[in-house]
Amino acid sequence: MTRVKVLLTGATGYIGGTVLSTLLASQSHRIRDISITVLVRRQEQADKLVSSRVTPLIFSGLDDLELLERAASEHDVVIHTASGFHTASAEALIAGLRKRNTYSYYVHTSGTWNLAEASLADLDAQLLELTDNDDILKLEKELQAERPFSQRATDLRVMSAVADSQVKAYIIMPPDVYGYGTGLFAKTTPQIEGMARDALKHGQAAYIRNEDGIVGYVHVADLAALYVVLLEKLFNDHAAASVSEGIYFCSTGTHRWQETAARIGELGFRDSHLVSAIPKAMRIHEAAERWSGGDVRDLRMGYCSRFSTKPDKAMDLGWRPQKDQRDWLAWIDTSFQAALKSQEKDK
Ligand SMILES: NC(=O)c1ccc[n+]([C@@H]2O[C@H](COP(=O)([O-])OP(=O)(O)OC[C@H]3O[C@@H](n4cnc5c(N)ncnc54)[C@H](OP(=O)(O)O)[C@@H]3O)[C@@H](O)[C@H]2O)c1
Repeated sequence: MTRVKVLLTGATGYIGGTVLSTLLASQSHRIRDISITVLVRRQEQADKLVSSRVTPLIFSGLDDLELLERAASEHDVVIHTASGFHTASAEALIAGLRKRNTYSYYVHTSGTWNLAEASLADLDAQLLELTDNDDILKLEKELQAERPFSQRATDLRVMSAVADSQVKAYIIMPPDVYGYGTGLFAKTTPQIEGMARDALKHGQAAYIRNEDGIVGYVHVADLAALYVVLLEKLFNDHAAASVSEGIYFCSTGTHRWQETAARIGELGFRDSHLVSAIPKAMRIHEAAERWSGGDVRDLRMGYCSRFSTKPDKAMDLGWRPQKDQRDWLAWIDTSFQAALKSQEKDK
């Protein structure tokens, strides 16, 4: 069998780096034999990533569309983790795969933020429970018609760009990602540590009054495992046809922002870093000033939405996440300690 060639973007990033190391660690015979080309921007990144199975290719960035198209046309699979927001790069990668005139796979990284507004319409509503067996692309189209959002636009463009072709597209849609990544470069994503730093800066944790935002989470190791499970299925001649295209959810639990803020409050107050264990209940405009440069829309998507995304399709593929709520809660503690350390460094 010829070696399957995979092109990966974002290999120096949090998600992409973890996907790469998880692929390289996989003992599955279908994954062990793949060769991986990683697109990176700098020579020192290339020098660190190169190995017998990894070939770095230096490019100027995601706007280098010609190179992206050419590189994709020379690979069987593209995994795009560099950005869910950059529509042109996704289009160029798919255009490259289309040139192959044989079956190929495009795996895209998106995010559940795309769906947040669906739960904002009715503030009194219960938690909006979505599963990836629902018609999520239809929901994205409806939301996009109301208000454009680039990460959502990219999903829709991905699915229209592969239409009537031999390219199959899979969009992995993570909620908030947490935990230490296992790539060689970016190891974390700043969200919870950022919240802890903000609490330390103001002497008190905070949340948005009257909103009770609830969103999902997934550990980065579980997320990366899903990419591997998906590829394993696609490389299995007997199973590939049963893998449906489109959106894959990967949430393993949900958290309330108010409770996350309260945990940061308790941790900080216990060791006298904060003036109170009880987080401050902010008005939305005050929160927007403090957290999002005054942008209420972004803030509401991130902190006021109330929804869950059940990963039925991923579970059907055989994905079995290993982390649970205890890991999530431990991550809040770890992030608080990291925020403290960086505060001390800044002094
Ligand atoms: N992190 C999360 O919690 C989360 C949650 C949901 C969805 N997502 C989705 O996942 C995507 C990736 O997230 P991440 O946390 O892995 O990001 P990250 O740690 O910032 O990594 C981004 C990666 O993409 C590369 N990159 C970014 N912009 C580029 C450009 N213009 N040209 C070339 N390379 C570029 C970076 O390369 P350099 O090292 O050269 O900068 C890096 O390898 C996000 O855009 C989002 O759509 C993330």
